[in-house]
Amino acid sequence: MPAYNPKTLFVITVHSQNYRNNLFFDEVRRGINIEANLSGVNVEFLFGFNHKLATFERAAGIIFAPDGSTACYQLISGFKKQKKLPIVQIDNQIYDKKLAPPFDAFLGTDNFHGGKTTCEYLKSYLQKNSKILVIAGNRNLNFLSYNERLEGFKKEAGKYLKIIKIIYGEFDHHKTYTELHRYFSKTKDLPDAIFSFNDDSAIVARKVLDELTINKNIIITGFDGSASGRAALSKEQIICSYDQDPEILGRMALQTFIALADKRKQKKITLLKSTLLTKKNIGNTFYSGVINFLDRTLTPLSFRKRRYVISSFTSSSFPVQKSLFEYKNELTCPIYLSNKNNLVPLLEQIAADKFIVVSDNDRFLKTERKKLHKILKRNGLNVEVAGFPAGEKNKTPKTLVDLIEAILKKKVTKKSCLIVLGGGISGNVGGFAASIIYRGIRFVHLPTTLMHMVDSSTGGKQAVDSKYGKNAIGNFFEPEFILIDHKYLISLPVKELKNGLAECIKHALCQDKNFYNFILSNASQLLVSRSENKWKKVIKKSIELKLAVLNKDSYELNEGMILVYGHTIGNAIESATKFTLNHGEAIALGMLAAAKISVKMGLADELMIKQHEKIFRAVGLPIKLPKTISIDQIVNYLKFDKKYVDKPLSFILLRDLGKIYINKGVAPTEVSVKTIKSVIESMS
Ligand SMILES: NC(=O)c1ccc[n+]([C@@H]2O[C@H](COP(=O)([O-])OP(=O)(O)OC[C@H]3O[C@@H](n4cnc5c(N)ncnc54)[C@H](O)[C@@H]3O)[C@@H](O)[C@H]2O)c1
Ligand SMILES: [Zn+2]
Repeated sequence: MPAYNPKTLFVITVHSQNYRNNLFFDEVRRGINIEANLSGVNVEFLFGFNHKLATFERAAGIIFAPDGSTACYQLISGFKKQKKLPIVQIDNQIYDKKLAPPFDAFLGTDNFHGGKTTCEYLKSYLQKNSKILVIAGNRNLNFLSYNERLEGFKKEAGKYLKIIKIIYGEFDHHKTYTELHRYFSKTKDLPDAIFSFNDDSAIVARKVLDELTINKNIIITGFDGSASGRAALSKEQIICSYDQDPEILGRMALQTFIALADKRKQKKITLLKSTLLTKKNIGNTFYSGVINFLDRTLTPLSFRKRRYVISSFTSSSFPVQKSLFEYKNELTCPIYLSNKNNLVPLLEQIAADKFIVVSDNDRFLKTERKKLHKILKRNGLNVEVAGFPAGEKNKTPKTLVDLIEAILKKKVTKKSCLIVLGGGISGNVGGFAASIIYRGIRFVHLPTTLMHMVDSSTGGKQAVDSKYGKNAIGNFFEPEFILIDHKYLISLPVKELKNGLAECIKHALCQDKNFYNFILSNASQLLVSRSENKWKKVIKKSIELKLAVLNKDSYELNEGMILVYGHTIGNAIESATKFTLNHGEAIALGMLAAAKISVKMGLADELMIKQHEKIFRAVGLPIKLPKTISIDQIVNYLKFDKKYVDKPLSFILLRDLGKIYINKGVAPTEVSVKTIKSVIESMS
């Protein structure tokens, strides 16, 4: 008996629609009960979403079992603040960094080896060279190393069985269903078995065979299931095999909890790790941190810093577990570079009572908004639309208030969610509206301009203009996620492409010489032939470079000032031309001016000016000031106070391509008005 004498340990789970999780949990529960009996811990199981904090007055801690985490996220925050109770999370998947809430410990399983076991298992049912159809993970889904798993399976199965068809669906039940339907409606070559990588899609396969009244006795398999599930399903000729052992997981969770709860046993966690890992359950792994599945690195839990993660995926029902996060600004904002068709499953994860598609009323966006509305509706979501007048001149407080009231009129609640579709203007106004409706409701970004994809959607800055300044009224508010579909660029006018590209070039100049060379040598493929792959690369790289800055320095101080490279003079030029030059064109000139300043001050080599000019020329951005504006106009817009006309201004300067100039740890460099003037003069 441990010295620790607990009150009640609560185990919370939500029996979801996901069949696999329910089976999984039954076994976890058994494990927890076994261990609770052994150690004398009093355990109570709770189901569902709606638990009151008061219920946990006598709580000793919580274990969140599969799916319980999302549902009860708010509780966790309450708990952490009030009582500092230990919280352990169990799941039948390994959390990616971006999905992990701040638990004290996390236990997950990894069913990597399932293919091999299942093959072994199949051998007892199937003759050599039997034909099998495989339902595997999506080829483009990096998240769980499905490709590795499939390769392993193919190798193993190939020794004995004949794979006649692979369907990539697995997590996307609808896709699996349609593809199977299509295949079985046509083919005469029926398999002897269907091997599915999880038992949910095995059940889909069963349904398809039934619907098409295919009478051949086809064995259907899946794994991830539990022993009880296997028993239940085998009646239907479905055999589930699995390599993970949820029961052990339940036992481990309880041991971890005891170790956490008993202060004297704090150290026990590492001990548990080393002893339990040696057990023969190869699929079971214990982590006191979160494992990043992609590079298999461990991060200790309880991080509270804002963090962005980029992931590419195309499968649906991606396990986004963020619907009730409270510490919005401090946690992850996932950025998906993916097809917009994946919006539906991501929105389903948000579990909102209503979605409002918001965009400005530009012709293109109005049409897109309608299309999106239709698609979402068809998918069973409760969705409405709201719009506001397009254009920078309408990015005003009045537009904001009108939009908010139009949204409120649609009876949104605190559980509703805005889908903000469009460019930076829609993004800024829609995001700002979301941030103040009922003091903040959830929203997602669906950017359609390059500017918004690579710049305004990340960073959480929301704003409208005031007559006293651009973006003068605003705040920081993060979306639930950003879904970037580069295909939107197909219809975007070249001028708008160049506008965003200027920001990409900014990152290249300040942070990454290779990226500079990439844009330079692919300029025409980007702007003329509009190569999708090249654009994908530019978008991904630009965001990565921006995030590298933001994650270090989210409020744009010191090094974060990279983000405003070229903007001091650029913004002044933009205003001086009364916005006949767009932002991208103006900051291109601003960056060139900054390069000239560096050279003039002896901080960089002459070559740097040439490099700036070369890339701007290549993509068709200006290198000469328009004749319509005077130097004095620009200088006026640099907002000098008359009294302090000679006060130097701060600039971010480069010392070389990809390297900013930092003096004694400080990035911004003071530049005299005289130097600024003479540089601007040289550009007209
Ligand atoms: N918050 C930030 O960090 C940040 C950063 C950069 C820019 N911004 C803001 O973003 C705004 C500019 O954003 P923008 O350049 O995206 O302008 P925008 O939102 O006005 O979009 C440009 C034009 O293209 C149309 N359009 C959008 N997507 C299209 C598509 N796929 N095909 C065809 N047409 C399409 C729009 O309706 C609009 O007419 C400015 O207000 C600026 O202040 C904010
Ligand atoms: Zn900018």
